[in-house]
Parts: sequence; C-alpha cells; structure tokens
Amino acid sequence: MQKRFLRDLEVSSIGFGCMGFSHGYGSGPDKQESIQLIRGAYDLGCTFFDTAEVYGNGHNEELVGEALNPIRDNVVLATKLFIDSETEANSIEQLEQSIRKHLDASLKRLGTDYVDLYYQHRVNKDIPVEDVAHVMGKLIDEGKIRGWGQSQSTEEEIRRAHAVTPLTAIQSEYSIMERMFEKDVIPACEELGIGFVPFSPLASGFLSGNISKDTKYTGDDVRRVITRFDPESVEANQPLLDLLTQFAEAKEATPAQVSLAWMLHKGDFIVPIPGSRKLERIQENLGAAEVELTEEEYNQIEEELSNVEIHGNRTDEDIAKLNDL
Ligand SMILES: NC(=O)c1ccc[n+]([C@@H]2O[C@H](COP(=O)([O-])OP(=O)(O)OC[C@H]3O[C@@H](n4cnc5c(N)ncnc54)[C@H](OP(=O)(O)O)[C@@H]3O)[C@@H](O)[C@H]2O)c1
Repeated sequence: MQKRFLRDLEVSSIGFGCMGFSHGYGSGPDKQESIQLIRGAYDLGCTFFDTAEVYGNGHNEELVGEALNPIRDNVVLATKLFIDSETEANSIEQLEQSIRKHLDASLKRLGTDYVDLYYQHRVNKDIPVEDVAHVMGKLIDEGKIRGWGQSQSTEEEIRRAHAVTPLTAIQSEYSIMERMFEKDVIPACEELGIGFVPFSPLASGFLSGNISKDTKYTGDDVRRVITRFDPESVEANQPLLDLLTQFAEAKEATPAQVSLAWMLHKGDFIVPIPGSRKLERIQENLGAAEVELTEEEYNQIEEELSNVEIHGNRTDEDIAKLNDL
C-alpha cells in the first residue's frame, strides 16, 4: 500500500480503527478472531492502528497490543487519553503526573514501551492547551511517545498547542456526510504540516450502502442515537448513496471505496481510519487506496455533492444518551 506522512510518522495511506472490537458498535467477534482480523489488516498492507484507553475500559488496548506484538516496530500505534479536569489537573504538576499515569497504564495494556501517536481524546476547555502541549513535549523528548495529537479540537486550540509542541496529527470526524472541519481545521493542518486523521470516514458504515431504514442496532451501538440512522434520515439520505453508487460502478469500485478515495484525493496529509470486524470489508476499505480519482472525476463528485442535502449527524451529546437507554 502507498505510504503517507503524518508529520514525521510514515503510515499506510489508510489506517485501521480498532474501536469496534470493544466499543461502540454492539457485540463483536471473540478475542482470537479479533486478533486475526487486526493482523489481517496488517497482512493487507495497513501499518497504522488506532485505539484508545476508553474503548472497553482498556480492553481494546490490550487486544490491539496483543495483536500487534509480533510486528510492533513495523507499525504506527495510536492511542488516546481523557483528562478529568476536576481531579487530575489542579496544577501543572498534577496535570503532568496525571498524563504520565494515563500513558503508563496504556503502555502496560499495550505491552510496549512507546506509543507512536498519543492523542488528547477531547480538549478540556478548562485546561490550557499549552500546558498539555508542554507535557507532551517532555514525553516526546523522553522517547515515551513519538508524536502527539488532539481529537475534535478547534483551529484556535490547534494553533496554540502547535506553537508549544508541534502536533503530529488531528483526529476528528470527517466524511462525505460530515464536512464541518473543511472550513478551518483541515486547511490549518495543511498549512502547519499536521496530519489529519478522519474518524468515522464511512459515517459509521452508512456510506457502504449496506444500511437500510429497517437495520436494527443493539447494546452500545452508537447508531441507536446518531440521528443519521433514524429511519427518516436513512430514507432522506438515499440520493447520496445513489450518487456514490453511480460513481462506484463507473470506477468498478464500491461506494465505501469512492468515499475514502474522495478524501484521499484532498491531500496527502489525510489518512482515514475506517473500522470493521469482517475481513472482506477490511479488504474493501484498504483497497480504496488503489482507487484513484482523476481531477475531473473528483470535481464532478464535488459538484454533484453540492446539490445533495445531508440529513442527521453524530454528536457527543447524542452519544452520551446511550448511557440512559
Ligand atoms: N476520536 C474519536 O472521538 C473517535 C470517535 C469514533 C471513532 N474513532 C476511531 O475511528 C475509527 C473509525 O471510526 P468508525 O469505526 O466509526 O468508522 P467507520 O468505518 O465509518 O464505521 C464503522 C462501522 O461501519 C461498518 N463498516 C465499515 N466498513 C464497512 C464496509 N466496507 N461495508 C459495510 N459496513 C462497513 C462497520 O461494521 P462492521 O464492524 O460490522 O463491519 C462499523 O459498524 C474507530 O475504530 C476509532 O478507532 C475515534
């Protein structure tokens, strides 16, 4: 697979999001099968793997760590931390201790002594980004992490943090159905030489075309509360799928592949991380790296997309409602 750079980290042009094995999409395969699937992604050319301490309360990091153990130094491993503003950041000293504690726990679960890319999973509005950046800089100097990032941050937070310790990548939601970061964050990443890692690049599977208004979701599946998956939204968004299917047929590709090829075309600092628990879908998604759009095809997609209205979205507030169901 072709390679790209997230600042100075070389990764496959499409990565693999491992969250679904432990969190967010209902029950998944057992441990051995999950490990085989993660290794399967590597065998297909993927060298960039994404997890977080919060996915399954550490379960996902343990799983990903075990799966990647035999090939640890051949891959770029990203994980994320949440900082509790109330109990973990009452002073810069406490903030540093807290971040170190989170990182040490992640390293233990991952079974490694360094993380390639360590993200702040959400930027705490009451902790100065400069303070977090300062601590991340120390961890880089010590070799405990190779680079750092933020998730769902604003352009201002990116610029302020980057001025203290250069950011490696921003991981935020981005797909044909959610383009809010196009106006500021993505151009800022390009300008500053920061990688941009789209999460939910297939809009939680909607862009595969395999979702119908009758599809049912169970357990911790976020699609129970993402309004994009309301039956009315699924029906109302059908014109988008029709458009993608039409382009896909012309390219002998699938709608999921066209959706990923569309974002890959936008710049070589963009590296999406689709997630799946089925080998044929992992293969399909990673195969999108071979689907190259010409400038003309890309412009045509953009033009036609500008006439399509998107119904529903995905918000942290909606996802928090899952706890009450
Ligand atoms: N930073 C953050 O706050 C944040 C938030 C969300 C996610 N993430 C990260 O981003 C990664 C990707 O996000 P995501 O998992 O939401 O991405 P996604 O690829 O947009 O959605 C994954 C869902 O789509 C389905 N799917 C994937 N490829 C498919 C295909 N080719 N055909 C049919 N269905 C397909 C999967 O089903 P099956 O598994 O059943 O195949 C799964 O339910 C996560 O794994 C996680 O590492 C980060």
